[in-house]
Amino acid sequence: MELHLISLALGLLLLVPVALKILFPYLWLDVLFFVDIMRIFVAFVSRRRKKPAFFALDRFLEQVAAVPDKSFMVFGDERYTFALVDEQSNRIANALRAHPGYTPGDTVALFMGNEPAFVTTWLALAKLGSPVALLNSNIRSKSLLHCFNCCRATVLIAASELRNAVEEVLSFLTERGTTILLMSKDCDTPGIQGFSAQVEEASDTPIPRSLRSHITFKSPAVYIYTSGTTGLPKAAVLNQNRLLSALAVLSSNGITSKDIFYLNLPLYHTAGFIVGFIGCIETGSTIILKKKFSASQFWDDCRKHNVTVIQYIGEVMRYLCSTPKKDNDKEHKVRLAIGNGIRAEVWREFLNRFGNIQIREFYASTEGNVGFVNYAGKIGAVGRVNFFYRKLFPYTLIKYDTERDEPVRDANGLCVKALKGETGLLVSKITDIAPFLGYVQNEEQNERKRLRNVLKKGDLYFNTGDLLKIDHDNFIYFQDRVGDTFRWKGENVATTEVSDILTLSGCLQEANVYGVQVPGHEGRIGMAAATLKKDVKFDGRRMYQHVVSYLPSYARPRFIRIQDAMEVTGTFKQMKVKLMEQGFNPGSVQDPLYILDDRAESYMLLTAEIYKSIMSGSIKL
Ligand SMILES: *[C@@H]1O[C@H](CO)[C@@H](O)[C@H](O)[C@H]1NC(C)=O
Repeated sequence: MELHLISLALGLLLLVPVALKILFPYLWLDVLFFVDIMRIFVAFVSRRRKKPAFFALDRFLEQVAAVPDKSFMVFGDERYTFALVDEQSNRIANALRAHPGYTPGDTVALFMGNEPAFVTTWLALAKLGSPVALLNSNIRSKSLLHCFNCCRATVLIAASELRNAVEEVLSFLTERGTTILLMSKDCDTPGIQGFSAQVEEASDTPIPRSLRSHITFKSPAVYIYTSGTTGLPKAAVLNQNRLLSALAVLSSNGITSKDIFYLNLPLYHTAGFIVGFIGCIETGSTIILKKKFSASQFWDDCRKHNVTVIQYIGEVMRYLCSTPKKDNDKEHKVRLAIGNGIRAEVWREFLNRFGNIQIREFYASTEGNVGFVNYAGKIGAVGRVNFFYRKLFPYTLIKYDTERDEPVRDANGLCVKALKGETGLLVSKITDIAPFLGYVQNEEQNERKRLRNVLKKGDLYFNTGDLLKIDHDNFIYFQDRVGDTFRWKGENVATTEVSDILTLSGCLQEANVYGVQVPGHEGRIGMAAATLKKDVKFDGRRMYQHVVSYLPSYARPRFIRIQDAMEVTGTFKQMKVKLMEQGFNPGSVQDPLYILDDRAESYMLLTAEIYKSIMSGSIKL
């Protein structure tokens, strides 16, 4: 009898995991995820306690000491071991120290695309205790100057192929007494100094630690530019503490020193720099660095280098899926893809086509204080609500009025939580462990990102500006961005920045910029509804010249709609939602429509025929 009871109890006990699995199918994954978070937290805290202080750079130096001959970076046919990267960065640092226009600790702007010198120059500046502003290598003229000025850099280091872009703004830079160093042997333009020869001749002796003894965890480490909601790009500050915690992004997703990491996103953005580069410093993986993303070379590169981990943004995955099918599509060693912005249908297609690759979709932003990762592999989701995680990082989704472009508030003036299955604005409580560091010299924008009186009077949240949804199984889905930005070709476009520039063109009185969807494309392509100045005709050629000289290609409005008068909302905000819905179909929009035509170097009248070709995909945008 007793035996019988014991075996019954045992039997029931054995059933518990099965029952849990049915009732809470993701419980085990949720627990594992939280264990990971705790492990990261403990590692982080123990590093924070080290004396002397331990920074991201120190992790790199640990790798150099431990595995000097391991490949850290491969670029084309060039292979760089940890030791070589270290030596090369010492050379740059020593050459800089000897330069009269630079003092260790000065803020330096780095204007460079993806190449090994980006990595070695950043390391050199870290060794010298200098914060580095990572300038987008696509920006030009007014935007370039703005980005350079707003972080108060005194030195500009530029890649040799960006010489023309530097020359365009040279007089403004020299006026401010900027030291301008070009990574080429010599440069005959007055005011720009060739720097490569000095680097080659410099010694590779290590840089004394004392040069960075002034650095604390609160010191700015890098400035990364984002086009948040309005205006020109803003410099988000990432301090040393943030970089130290960023070391965990790849290791916490199971990436190790044995992995070969394919880095084809720009190093001046958070994805490439923080996730890719800083992440690999921690793991000691080998980085296969690409100048830029190429869909046609992607898998050949992966095969050639035995790549095991790839990094993506949504567009990357779509482009890969839209290349012609090949017999060897599944022949590769890629086991994991990490990134954000992949759509559910592309995700399915990707797995079908390229085989069983684990996809780690995450949600995060450069300046934000909350992030999610889809550790359960649920197609389409960016993450999962995790009870423990939410205790550490209290975030919530609140109801949002897209017409009025503001959160819904109740009779007491508090925000209203969105229900499960309902789209809401993601806000995250600003705390000591989830601080909001803000943008440099932009208190107005900082205040815009802060939201007060959210759930209680007097509380303070970070407003992500992103609309998300939580389903009944607790998966989190990204829905849209609110307000004044849209994404095109992986870049954020700030609509007010574009409209400011359009109205400088001479012929436009007002311009309302927004993004419109085109079938078969991620994100939205730029469009402007504009009014003309009195007695002025629309000049497509002049407009084209203006747009091309002021805006990077992804931000140029592809369509312009000329209206007699601008419609505004009750609160005098420009009407965007209606215009977005009306789109660019000349069959239904009565106003004259123009399309940017790069071959004709002009804005041309958008005919029904052109419209048809765009919709059928025979004109590529
Ligand atoms: C890739 O792996 C294969 C077999 O595992 C090996 O023969 C080859 O040398 C590797 N290639 C590189 C670039 O490491």
